Amino acid sequence: MPTDRKPEYFKGATLKVAIIGCGYVGLPLALRFAEAGHRVLALDVDSAKVDMLNRGQGYIEHIPATKIKQHLLSKHFAATSDFARLSEMDAILVCVPTPLDERREPDLTYVEQTARSIAPNLQRGQLVVLESTTYPGTTEELVRPILEQNGLRCPIASAAQGSDVPVDFFLAFSPEREDPGNKQYGLAQIPKIVGGVNPPSGRAAAALYAQIVARVVPVSSARTAEMAKLLENIFRCVNIALVNELKLLSLRMGIDIWEVIDAASTKPFGFMPFYPGPGLGGHCIPVDPFYLSWKAREYDFSTRFIELAGEVNTAMPYHIVDAIAAALNDRQKALKGARILILGVAYKKDVDDLRESPALMIMQLLLERGAQVQYNDPHFPRLHRMRRYDYSNLQSIELRPEKVAGFDCVVIATDHSTYDLQAIVEVAQMVVDTRNATRRVARHRHKIVLC
Ligand SMILES: NC(=O)c1ccc[n+]([C@@H]2O[C@H](COP(=O)([O-])OP(=O)(O)OC[C@H]3O[C@@H](n4cnc5c(N)ncnc54)[C@H](O)[C@@H]3O)[C@@H](O)[C@H]2O)c1
Repeated sequence: MPTDRKPEYFKGATLKVAIIGCGYVGLPLALRFAEAGHRVLALDVDSAKVDMLNRGQGYIEHIPATKIKQHLLSKHFAATSDFARLSEMDAILVCVPTPLDERREPDLTYVEQTARSIAPNLQRGQLVVLESTTYPGTTEELVRPILEQNGLRCPIASAAQGSDVPVDFFLAFSPEREDPGNKQYGLAQIPKIVGGVNPPSGRAAAALYAQIVARVVPVSSARTAEMAKLLENIFRCVNIALVNELKLLSLRMGIDIWEVIDAASTKPFGFMPFYPGPGLGGHCIPVDPFYLSWKAREYDFSTRFIELAGEVNTAMPYHIVDAIAAALNDRQKALKGARILILGVAYKKDVDDLRESPALMIMQLLLERGAQVQYNDPHFPRLHRMRRYDYSNLQSIELRPEKVAGFDCVVIATDHSTYDLQAIVEVAQMVVDTRNATRRVARHRHKIVLC
């Protein structure tokens, strides 16, 4: 590797780009770099994923295997678990998980382990970018010291300290804004925020990403980029909590919150609609805000909006189960022993992702209260054992009319587009709708309970 590599080097064609962590974020990113003509090496500790990728097979529903095969054949894409190969790379992008632990505190073990795998292979002139969502300071305070263990340096410096501070390697943070299942905005159309630990690192990362996205948004530091990603997700989390709380009040007041939101949305400025639901789901919105709350404690600062939003959103599955019990009660039935069909276990419409899905919590609460629970989800033919739940004996049931009619209550937890809700309402005894998915169902409305 040259010792005098300039940030502009990353404007070059056919760079060698490693992506560590081939999940919902890393795999599309890897394929996008391959599409742009670079040579991509996808690394993952999960050897089953590596084997599938090298056979040209996919494991994420919305990422077609044909794309993987095409880039394998053109030799622009390969997968491995051999981290020693990092030493051959120009750029190393890190897309590993950043969950919460049992005490709902940041679990940075994946990021830390990854930095430890990079460190012995790190070469002069390489660019390392963290993409995993995390609290401000992670790139500088956690990743940088580990990478510097072998003697190469990437000092923290602001633009005021000079735009050409000498560095041995480049280090930056660039948050991923992937929205699985969103057909309108793919990776290439979504602007990418980039912040370096020092100005040369910021310029190097900006040069690289400018090759795969329509717009790069450079910011003054890695910490700013880390905070920007959290602001985006906290904004969603707090607004969803607000609308969930207003839904609870509206239900009590006999007002249709969805009609209210549609009406308010006609304001051409200063309003953005958020929709109530059965609770937060996915790897991001229920998790990321608590990375900032945790970090804020170091500064004797309490993030009250985040805590309050967490409280309101966490209560939603409990509210749904109470609403199911009340609806059964109105029909002279008890929740204990009731046969309940959950429609949709994915955390959101049309995705094959179960992480933090509120449907799983609703099922757990129903089982604890003695209900008999079954589910349907076209994206999950069967469920499995998870950290918090054991649904290893549950399989998605077929939605045959006579089968649906046999349930005391059908609960729409996730409104997948494939559901024929008119037909389901037609045969169901009662439908509890947590998403206003039945808004266009005109017949048998007396069977529908919005909650
Ligand atoms: N999923 C989303 O929609 C989304 C959107 C924006 C940001 N993010 C953030 O991106 C990051 C990754 O999320 P994801 O949804 O892609 O996660 P994921 O679980 O789908 O994928 C992570 C991958 O990393 C691998 N991995 C774990 N430890 C590793 C290690 N030490 N070395 C190599 N590979 C390792 C896992 O095997 C897995 O394949 C998280 O920080 C998340 O918050 C996710």
